[in-house]
Amino acid sequence: MARLKQKKEDALWQADPSLPKHVAIIMDGNGRWAKKRGLPRTAGHAAGAETFRRIATHCKDLGLDYLTVYAFSTENWKRPPEEVSAIMGLLDRYLHEAIEKMERDGIRLRVLGDTAPLSEELRALIARTEEISRGITGFQANICLNYGGRDELVRAARRYAADVAAGRANDLDEAGFASYLYTAGIPDPDLIIRPSGEERLSNFLLWQSAYAEFYYTSVLWPDFTEAELDKALRDYLGRSRRFGGV
Ligand code: IPE
Ligand code: IPE
Ligand code: MG
Repeated sequence: MARLKQKKEDALWQADPSLPKHVAIIMDGNGRWAKKRGLPRTAGHAAGAETFRRIATHCKDLGLDYLTVYAFSTENWKRPPEEVSAIMGLLDRYLHEAIEKMERDGIRLRVLGDTAPLSEELRALIARTEEISRGITGFQANICLNYGGRDELVRAARRYAADVAAGRANDLDEAGFASYLYTAGIPDPDLIIRPSGEERLSNFLLWQSAYAEFYYTSVLWPDFTEAELDKALRDYLGRSRRFGGV
C-alpha cells in the first residue's frame, strides 16, 4: 500500500514540468555527524559518500536532468593532510565503483574543478569516467572537486583574454562568458540545497547561482534522505520565480 502510494507520488512528481531541471547540493556536515557519534571525521565523509550515491539515484528516478554536488572546495586544502588524503581516497574508491556501474545505472558523471593538483591516478580515473559518460545519455551528476567559484571566474577571464589575444574571440556577452566556465553547456541550477544548518555559499557556483532558489536544512549530509530531498522539492514548487519580472 505504502509502495503503491509512493509509486503514485513518483509518477506525479515526474509529470510536474515545474520540477527543477538542475539541483545543486553543498554536501556539508560530515564532520559534525561523525563527532556526534564519537567517530573520526573521515567516517563522516565515508557516510556522506553513501548519501551521495542514494541521492543521485533518487534524482535520476525523479527525472531531473542534473545534480551538481560540492565535494571538495579550493579552500578545503586548509584541512589536516590526513583528512584531505582520506577524502581523496574516498573519491578514488567512488570513481572505481562508478566506472563499473555507471552504464548499468544510466548515470553520466562529470568532474568540475581544477584537477591539475590531484594525483595522477585520480586524474586518470576522472578521464576514464568522463570517457564512459560520453556513451550514456540522460541524467548527469557533476562532482565539484577542487572547485572554487572565484577560481572558476578567474580562469574563465584568463582563457577569454588569451582567446582575444590570439584573435579567436572578440566582444564578450553573458552567454559567451558562461561558455568559459566549468559548467559550459549545463543550465544554471534551479535549486541549491545546503544541509547542516550553515546558510552560506562557501564559494560554490557564484556565477551560476544568480537566480537559484536556496533551501537550507539543519539535517547533516550523512543523514540526508530521499524524503529530505522531496521536502526541498515541495518547498521549491511553492516558490514564485520571477527573474526580475512581475
Ligand atoms: C563537508 O563536510 C565535506 C567537505 C567539506 C569535504 P564537513 O567536513 O565540512 O563537515 P562539518 O562542516 O565539519 O560538519
Ligand atoms: C563547503 O563546505 C565545501 C564543501 C561542502 C565541499 P565547508 O564546510 O568547507 O564550508 P565552510 O568552511 O563551512 O564555509
Ligand atoms: Mg563543513
